[in-house]
Amino acid sequence: LAKIEVKLSEIPEGKSVTIKWRGKPLFVRHRTDEEVNEVRAVDHNTLRDPEPDEIRVQKAEWLVLIGVCTHLGCVPIANAGDYGGYYCPCHGSHYDASGRLRKGPAPYNLEVPEYTFPDEETLIVG
Ligand code: FES
Repeated sequence: LAKIEVKLSEIPEGKSVTIKWRGKPLFVRHRTDEEVNEVRAVDHNTLRDPEPDEIRVQKAEWLVLIGVCTHLGCVPIANAGDYGGYYCPCHGSHYDASGRLRKGPAPYNLEVPEYTFPDEETLIVG
């Protein structure tokens, strides 16, 4: 299966980039400390798909997601919606900066693919 290599130095803090991977959008987000603190302050037991941020990322500053809404498959918009993460305009699902569903019809959090960091500057997804 195809793997993709991403140069992390090209993604500034606070930005989420979209990369095409296996025919799907892949989101790679360089989170700010504020975003990390915010998503970690949430009691995950109150969420529809209860997952702590800590199990969704390997490194606090890097969030890696499949950019496909878990409702009916639209592509959410980065840095939009009520929770500062992603917003799906098709039927109004709001995801936070951990890719977790916070509001709207989607049943699950955005999917986290398999990935590794072979060194400080590189992400390999797949
Ligand atoms: Fe995203 Fe329906 S497809 S809210």
